[in-house]
Amino acid sequence: MTTPGPAAPRAMVFPDLATLSDAVARAVVEAAHESLLHRGRFTIALSGGDTPRPAYELLGGRYAGDIDWSRTEIFFGDERCVPQDDARSNFRLARESFLSRLPVAPRALYPMYEAGEPPGVAAQRYEELLRSAFPAMSAADPPTFDLAFQGVGPDGHTASLFPGNPALGELERWVVPVRARPDVEIRDRISLTLPALNHARRVLFMVAGDAKRDAVSRVLRPRQADEPALPAALVSGLDDTCWMLDVAAAGDLAR
Ligand code: 6PG
Repeated sequence: MTTPGPAAPRAMVFPDLATLSDAVARAVVEAAHESLLHRGRFTIALSGGDTPRPAYELLGGRYAGDIDWSRTEIFFGDERCVPQDDARSNFRLARESFLSRLPVAPRALYPMYEAGEPPGVAAQRYEELLRSAFPAMSAADPPTFDLAFQGVGPDGHTASLFPGNPALGELERWVVPVRARPDVEIRDRISLTLPALNHARRVLFMVAGDAKRDAVSRVLRPRQADEPALPAALVSGLDDTCWMLDVAAAGDLAR
């Protein structure tokens, strides 16, 4: 199993989704400023689902002028295998909520899935894209996103790495096709793997709502010896791992 990076997770709790979303958007701006200052480039891997929308809308609204999008490269941490205009597409979420509203186009925008692509072909294509976008010292070095923007499911999944799914055990490839459980909306997905996620400089988890409370507690509390780690607990950044929560998701962590 991939050893999480050295950054022990820290948590920040906010009264509600609105204040959480504003703080998350500001954290993305701060990560962009640091990356652009030190590396002249800002690379971010976006998450999907419902939670990020208000924060993404702020990135396309109040904070749109605070990031140099012409030096920003947008990737995805995972994607459902649906057309990009499907309401369940993570790409569509990002495009609608902020990418279509930016003052200037991002330097690069890399959707993870094209309609009709076999998932395995899409994953291979994306891995090759990452290899050219992150010319590392050695081919073995995974991509180093400046920021991996993550969500968490009630079951503790992150990206499309679900508990017990073989994709969790992938230690070589950076991008894999995923066949999720039958109860998961859109079973065919593409996902970054733990090696790719854990090589990000910063990981930011945005989590809201009491449906996530148990997963958050299981990740942020000390684990029983015989308790399997949730997928989200296996993801951490090289420099920083920050769990940004509303009170509902934080539960008694908020006290
Ligand atoms: C996806 C996401 C996934 C998401 C969680 C939480 O494609 O579904 O990338 O990892 O972050 O499922 O989703 P909600 O924010 O909708 O609860």
